[in-house]
Amino acid sequence: MVQQQQKRVAIVGATGYTGAELTAILFRHAGVELVGLYSSTGGKGGEIVPAPGGQARVPVLHGEPFDLEKLFAATPDVVFLATPNEVSATLAPKLVDAGIQVIDLSGAFRLDDPSLYPSWYGFTHERPALLNEAVYGLTEWCNGELKKARLVANPGCYPTSILLALRPLTYVLDRDQPVICDSKSGVSGAGKKADVAWSFAELYGNFKAYGVGSHRHEPEIRQGLHLGDKATLVFVPHLLPTVRGILSTMHVAFTAAQTSEQISELYAKAYANAPFVRVLPAGQLPELKNVIGTPHAEIGFTLLNGGKRAVIVSVIDNLQKGAASQAVQNFNRMCGFAETEALQ
Ligand SMILES: NC(=O)c1ccc[n+]([C@@H]2O[C@H](COP(=O)([O-])OP(=O)(O)OC[C@H]3O[C@@H](n4cnc5c(N)ncnc54)[C@H](OP(=O)(O)O)[C@@H]3O)[C@@H](O)[C@H]2O)c1
Repeated sequence: MVQQQQKRVAIVGATGYTGAELTAILFRHAGVELVGLYSSTGGKGGEIVPAPGGQARVPVLHGEPFDLEKLFAATPDVVFLATPNEVSATLAPKLVDAGIQVIDLSGAFRLDDPSLYPSWYGFTHERPALLNEAVYGLTEWCNGELKKARLVANPGCYPTSILLALRPLTYVLDRDQPVICDSKSGVSGAGKKADVAWSFAELYGNFKAYGVGSHRHEPEIRQGLHLGDKATLVFVPHLLPTVRGILSTMHVAFTAAQTSEQISELYAKAYANAPFVRVLPAGQLPELKNVIGTPHAEIGFTLLNGGKRAVIVSVIDNLQKGAASQAVQNFNRMCGFAETEALQ
């Protein structure tokens, strides 16, 4: 049997919610040698602790304060960036130029059109050419391009939940009718935050919508569904008083009436070989508890109006399929490991 060569891997942002989850997964990956774990501050305060509610465990590990020269000296083959958008936007080009493969969990390389960055992300892109090159890592829709990728833009958590559910239906969607995506996320979706708005007292027993018309995942969803500028996309994110999980409820219309069998067939074709996507029988809708702490997505649907419309529900763990486990799926495909390595 051919022995797969180990990859030298570093994580920047290892102390954050997605970075800690990544550390825990990669720690048990047979093909990975972790050669660097960094955060902005590092040190004693930089302990790597996964968010509550997952199954991932790590021994006591600390991130080191980030330093580019130190990272280069560790000679990684692959670097995961679990950092804020602006940090990734600056760092990724330097790593790619140095011949290091990068998997970026931020939104810095997800949008094809650089002109969208100032309005949606608040910065002008330093290396717009890399936006064309970056592979948008919605793993199940990537085919072979991950194999030669220098830069992978890991999808956002809300877009992952929505695109996995709606991409198989692209050719039957009626784009003259609004595509309505009503998504609810646990609080870890916003990363580790210390301000009052994210405190237990403010969130417990509460439930609210936010960012309607201004959430930066909106252009990513529009791009991923090929909706162009004209089709109406209504994306309403909500904050759930839970730590993990995203449940998206999507309301769509079809150009012609569909049967449950036809829709099930489209999903079956799309996900026949997808180890982490489960599609439920028609009329059964998924629940968060089925996927929390796992790398799985679950999708269910119910037809309405004689098959002219549907309500589709999808669930993921935002820190796993919405971030870290999807990043590892991409890494596995990029490096020739089994897609499920370290994930089951
Ligand atoms: N949370 C989610 O569900 C989710 C899902 C998908 C994608 N994402 C994206 O993934 C990225 C990380 O999200 P998160 O939720 O894990 O955030 P987080 O909990 O706030 O963690 C951010 C991490 O980045 C580090 N960092 C910040 N500035 C840095 C710098 N200049 N140099 C080196 N390290 C730096 C932080 O270190 P210190 O703590 O020491 O400052 C921390 O380790 C973001 O771009 C986010 O949009 C998040």
